[in-house]
Amino acid sequence: DLFSGTEDPAAALAALRAELERRNDLPPWTSAATQLVFGEGPVGAPLLFVGEQPGDEEDIAGRPFVGPAGRLFSRAAEEAGITRADAYVTNAVKYFKFKPTGRRRLHQSPDAGDIAYYRPFLKREIELVGPRLIVSLGATALRALTGKPLAITKVRGEPIETPDGLRVFPTVHPSYLLRLPDPESKEREYARFVADLTAARREVA
Ligand code: URA
Repeated sequence: DLFSGTEDPAAALAALRAELERRNDLPPWTSAATQLVFGEGPVGAPLLFVGEQPGDEEDIAGRPFVGPAGRLFSRAAEEAGITRADAYVTNAVKYFKFKPTGRRRLHQSPDAGDIAYYRPFLKREIELVGPRLIVSLGATALRALTGKPLAITKVRGEPIETPDGLRVFPTVHPSYLLRLPDPESKEREYARFVADLTAARREVA
């Protein structure tokens, strides 16, 4: 039992968040971000979703999955029958990494070092929430959870067990759906994403 002893998981999550806000060894690009974007959702949620990192809107709001990809994710999760009470959502990396270009801030993918830095914090967050299944959205999340660069196309849609005993259900990142060029593939891939989320929900039913 992860919660043996007297630890209150909600208080421990708040402490973890506070620690991430005051650490002085964060990756150097962090100072350009507005604020920390920590995970959200109920302790004990059966499903825990891991994205990549906050985007522009998340950085401003201080909340995960509120931008375009986040809204698409919420819509798909709802269609899959997943409610707010079922889901805790977080990211592998907790600050927005970007390149300033004129007045737009261009998303930059976190590198292996960024992922490795946040890994112990992500694992602690997961341990405190105590989900039955973790859904990884995209390659960064999957790498953060497994420690390996796996091809999503090969592993998506079936739960896998990580070396440290986590059950992970890999699927694509919602921003992948936003980037698809034509409406047909968008629609087809969105349906497949909803099917993955439905399968993940059934795993914990
Ligand atoms: N918003 C997030 O919070 N995380 C992502 O991975 C994408 C969008």
